[in-house]
Amino acid sequence: MAVNIHIVEEPRWGATAADLLAGCLKAKPDALVSFPTGHTPLPFYAELAGRAAADAAPFRRLRAVMLDDYLGATALPSNFYRWLRRELFDAIGLDDSRLLRIPSEPDGIEQACSDFERALAAQGGCDLQFLGLGGNGHIGFNDPGADAATRTRVVELAPETARANAEYWTNGYVPTRAVTQGIGTILAAKRICLLVRGPAKADMLRRALHGPIGAEVPASFLQQAPELTVIADLAAAARL
Ligand code: F6R
Repeated sequence: MAVNIHIVEEPRWGATAADLLAGCLKAKPDALVSFPTGHTPLPFYAELAGRAAADAAPFRRLRAVMLDDYLGATALPSNFYRWLRRELFDAIGLDDSRLLRIPSEPDGIEQACSDFERALAAQGGCDLQFLGLGGNGHIGFNDPGADAATRTRVVELAPETARANAEYWTNGYVPTRAVTQGIGTILAAKRICLLVRGPAKADMLRRALHGPIGAEVPASFLQQAPELTVIADLAAAARL
């Protein structure tokens, strides 16, 4: 495995991630890229929005694929598709024709997950997979217990993962099931970039990169990625 670790503070943190995407798009203007939701990538997405406002050309052929969403997302007041549209896709001019959406409707979901895997492969596979790191070591919605063979599927959220997502919801409602690219799906990407910020992730980042590889820490499977880039701020990198 080739690992490239960048330890940088904002505003370099977001710019470093944006530079990685820019390099990928320069080599392949219609690259297929997967983006996470959450707090971590926000400075990166803000940087991309700023760059697209100055020059939209590099983003014109970019294709995107979703990493995860809640099960039954369409009926929910808040979902990852809308989140990504608001925080990133509208700003970089990415319309739905260039987006491979992860299925999220309960009816026929198993078939839809297989179809999604097939569509991803038919589009040439993911060129660059950006990921955040869960406090319990999850990537996507692959909570502890998920192994390297998992593909896109419905998952029950670990209680701590559901709690961490609670702030996105009102009236105490928190979804408990989601659809996620599996670890095997994620590892099939040609290149992976793990985005990490803040002191709360420091211990988990050390375990992910230097601990034993196994389902207890799903992010540890990233040690098996063909090409891994980590972009961490000083606080997240404190225990490396
Ligand atoms: C979100 C996702 C999650 C987050 C992770 C970190 O689409 O796949 O795995 O990346 O929970 O979330 P934040 O960045 O909010 O700490």
